Amino acid sequence: MIVRSEKHIESLREGGRKLASILSSVACCLAPEISTIELDTYAFELIKKVGGTPSFKGYRIPGAKQPYPATLCVSVNDEVVHGIPGKRTLRDGDIVGLDIGMKYKGFFTDTAITVGIGRIAPESERLLAVTKKALNIGIAEARTGRRVGDIGAAIQQYVEGERLSVVRELVGHGVGKAVHEEPEVPNWGAHKTGPEIVEGMVLALEPMVTLGSPRVRVSRDGWTWRTIDGSLAAHFEHTILITKEGAEIITLT
Ligand code: MF3
Ligand code: CO
Ligand code: CO
Repeated sequence: MIVRSEKHIESLREGGRKLASILSSVACCLAPEISTIELDTYAFELIKKVGGTPSFKGYRIPGAKQPYPATLCVSVNDEVVHGIPGKRTLRDGDIVGLDIGMKYKGFFTDTAITVGIGRIAPESERLLAVTKKALNIGIAEARTGRRVGDIGAAIQQYVEGERLSVVRELVGHGVGKAVHEEPEVPNWGAHKTGPEIVEGMVLALEPMVTLGSPRVRVSRDGWTWRTIDGSLAAHFEHTILITKEGAEIITLT
C-alpha cells in the first residue's frame, strides 16, 4: 500500500510498535523444553489483549491444501520459514525463527526474528548475526530514488561476501492493507532493476539466509519450508515505511 494520511500512518505505527513488543514478549519465553504451540497460544493472547487480530491465521496461499492454522510461524534449525506450531519442544542449541503478523486498526504489519536457545554453535551465532545485518543493509537501501532491486542486490552481495547463501524462492513484499501485497522484494538480484521505491510505500523486508546450499523446499504440511541439504537457516523481518528521510522501521518497540 501507499499511505498518505497522517492518521493512517499513526495507526500503522501504533500497530507496528505493539506487534514488536508482542514478539519480544514471546521471545522472552524461549527456553529448552517449551513447545512451539505454547509460544503460539501466548502470542494469540497478547494480540487479543491489544485489540488486534492475528493476520496469518486462516491465510491461504495457492497450492497449500490447508489455510495457515496459527498466529505465529515457528521455524526451528533447518526450517526456513512458515513452521507450524505444534508439540515439538525446543532444545539447547536450537535456533528458532519466530514470525508474527497482526491486523490492527485496519493495518497489517509483519515482523520476525531468529533466536538461539541456550548455548549455540559459533556458526549458528554467525548465521544469526549476518542475517540480522543483511536486513539492516536492505533497510538502508530502501529510500526514494532507489529501486526494489537495489535492496536485494545489497543483501545478496553482503551475505555472499560472508560466504553464506541467500534463499531465492521466498521474498519480502508490500504490506499494510493485506498480509502480502505488491511489490515482491527479493533478497537477491541486480541494482537499478525492479519497481521504483516511492514515499508512502509500506514494505516487509525479510532476508532468509542459510549456512549451506540456498535451496529450499516446502514440506508435506504445505507450509513449512526447509533447506534441502539440512543446513541451518535464519530469518529476520521488519515492516518499514518509506518517508522523505528514508526508511522508518515500523516494527520497533
Ligand atoms: N509472515 C510471513 C511473511 O513474512 C507470511 C506468513 S503467511 C502464513 O511473509 F500464513 F504462513 F503465516
Ligand atoms: Co513475516
Ligand atoms: Co513478510
